[in-house]
Amino acid sequence: MQEALFKNIIAHAKEYGFIFQSSEIYDGLSAVYDYGQNGVELKENIKKYWWDSLVRLHDNIVGLDSAIFMHPKTWEASGHVAAFNDPLIDNRDSKKRYRADVLLEEYIARLESRIEKEVAKGKKRFGDNFDQDQFLATNPNVLREQAKIDKVNERMFKALGEDNLEELRQLILDCDIVCPVSGTRNWTEVRQFNLMFSTQMGSTHEGALQIFLRPETAQGMFVNFLNVQKSGRMKVPFGIAQIGKAFRNEIVARQFIFRMREFEQMEMQYFVKPGEEMKWYEYWKELRMCWHRSLGLGDEKFRFKDHEKLAHYANAACDIEFLFPFGFRELEGIHSRTDYDLARHEEYSGRKLRYFDPETNERYIPYVVETSIGLDRMFLAVLSASYTQEKLEGGETRIVMKFPPWLAPVKLAVFPLVNKDGLPQIAQEVLSKVRLDHYCLYDEKDSIGRRYRRMDAIGTPFCITIDHQTKEDQTVTLRDRDTMLQERVSIEELPKILDNKLNSKQWLQKLT
Ligand code: GAP
Repeated sequence: MQEALFKNIIAHAKEYGFIFQSSEIYDGLSAVYDYGQNGVELKENIKKYWWDSLVRLHDNIVGLDSAIFMHPKTWEASGHVAAFNDPLIDNRDSKKRYRADVLLEEYIARLESRIEKEVAKGKKRFGDNFDQDQFLATNPNVLREQAKIDKVNERMFKALGEDNLEELRQLILDCDIVCPVSGTRNWTEVRQFNLMFSTQMGSTHEGALQIFLRPETAQGMFVNFLNVQKSGRMKVPFGIAQIGKAFRNEIVARQFIFRMREFEQMEMQYFVKPGEEMKWYEYWKELRMCWHRSLGLGDEKFRFKDHEKLAHYANAACDIEFLFPFGFRELEGIHSRTDYDLARHEEYSGRKLRYFDPETNERYIPYVVETSIGLDRMFLAVLSASYTQEKLEGGETRIVMKFPPWLAPVKLAVFPLVNKDGLPQIAQEVLSKVRLDHYCLYDEKDSIGRRYRRMDAIGTPFCITIDHQTKEDQTVTLRDRDTMLQERVSIEELPKILDNKLNSKQWLQKLT
């Protein structure tokens, strides 16, 4: 865990208007965050890149914006009322509450880090002759720790699968896990806790309906499946994409915006012919990985992880994990959800949710392949991969957010070199031209060097400076954020040059 780096990123996000704690003046609300002036721009750009890559680039994928409130039966049908639970355990001494599975996962992570230490020692000892695979397969210390990990994983997944809460508690005791706060093993029983927030709809107490804040956006797409299919004359296979808020009463809510109680999802449900779902599952796995890699955050930071235990409705599922400063964690889920959701909504609503296939004259409930990514997690991935501290000649350090240019919150800054001699007027004229295509800032305060640093800190890819030469030959300097190099270009050519550098077109093209 790169703790110091993570703390720096969180502090930077606040100082430069990316993310604030919600209701901070009242000491904040745990695991709820607000996006500031730069955060909201970055978030919008991530959304647009996701949306364009799906809805704009595929003839057979359309968008939807369904309501957050849904009929309560939706959540009975989906299984969330009965089974959207976390197993919780309290420590009687510290009075702190934990997720039992997270305590066990942290225990496993400690064993894994012991293995990593052994590998590091081996590398040091054997140098160039070090064969990692052989070392992992033969070193007695590694084998001992790996055997423990396998045993705990096996017992944990079995207990979770069978809803065996007593066994989960026993496993925590057997692993000798202590409360991180009190240091004791004085644990309560494990209990199930439903993660959905509920509220009342209606004017009188007696007539009020208990409704839930949606814990995923997916159900809005399932209940609208036929509306979209018929009104859009869609043919299977086709997809519905949606971006929207979701709410979960997370017990273990930490790691900044990684696990929040109010967050945003970008989900796409792809409706396919039964029997073809594995083909489409593989297709979406590959395409989603391409999307992540197209951002240039570093291919080695992404990996697939198959689900060890499949949810009752899935016949295949995996995560795309990202290397956050606190290790590899889930960023996106890809699930083959079978016909579970549509079949359950048929059952609970009494309405047929079937597709009539004009080619085969068959009527069937389509199978669904889902891609589901947390927008806030994607934001954190972009933020942490872009945060760079650079030592400059002369010993100064600059902090620069190396965002992919088309995602950067501010695309351009326009500066007059000095605040006189008519330069601010020319700068305003240039600004009024370029701001029609890109989000720009104007700045005339402080030295030019300080202005560059401010733009580096919010990741502005280009700065345009108007100087005395501009008056003579209608040229400006264009400074590149990453190389810090400046080139002289004519004002007339600016829109074309900038469009080439800032437009997402060339990256989107790779996804077609
Ligand atoms: N419809 C499927 C679904 O909701 P999920 O794995 O529970 O699946 C999908 O969630 C994605 O939503 C996750 O991969 C993660 O990126 C994001 N996510 C889930 N819970 C979150 C939370 N509490 N805070 C932030 N993002 C979350």
